[in-house]
Amino acid sequence: MISNMIHATAANAAGRITAPALLAILVPFAGLFYPVSGAAQEADGQRLFQQRCATCHSMEPGQRKMGPQLLGIVGRTAGSVEGANYSGAMQSSGIVWDRQSLDTFLTAPRQMIRGTRMTVSIPDAAQRAAIIDYLESQSPD
Ligand code: HEC
Repeated sequence: MISNMIHATAANAAGRITAPALLAILVPFAGLFYPVSGAAQEADGQRLFQQRCATCHSMEPGQRKMGPQLLGIVGRTAGSVEGANYSGAMQSSGIVWDRQSLDTFLTAPRQMIRGTRMTVSIPDAAQRAAIIDYLESQSPD
């Protein structure tokens, strides 16, 4: 009898604590599984580009910084911007940039193209994807 009461009390307590606690854990967690809207991801990619790439790369055609402009980079042959200051390694790489090659390059540029002058890497896969989304969304017109 006493042990039954204790049991019931414990179960009630557990019920009261567990349900909201579970919700508190699951609700924000569930948010991770909803796809981020395209616009939000693009904005994020643009912000990352500004922070991590824009010092050396412009998105304006003809605007030269330390690196070549990256407008329309997806689908472009590596080392092909006229007048840009490329390494021989980049120019002879034979790469046509697509999402996969950009992802590999940004993970570890010098592992992919030995002798490249681009040394900046983005170790975080989600950040690389956001930056590549942004680059892909920008095409010359
Ligand atoms: C410190 C300067 C610097 C930063 C920062 C930088 N890059 Fe570069 N990037 C370069 C240089 C220099 C080259 C040319 C490399 C070569 O010719 O070997 C280059 C080349 C590239 C190329 C090949 C371009 C082509 O026309 O073939 C891509 C793609 C690229 N960078 C993407 C990025 C991205 C994306 C970021 C940001 C995450 C970034 N870079 C940050 C300096 C930089």
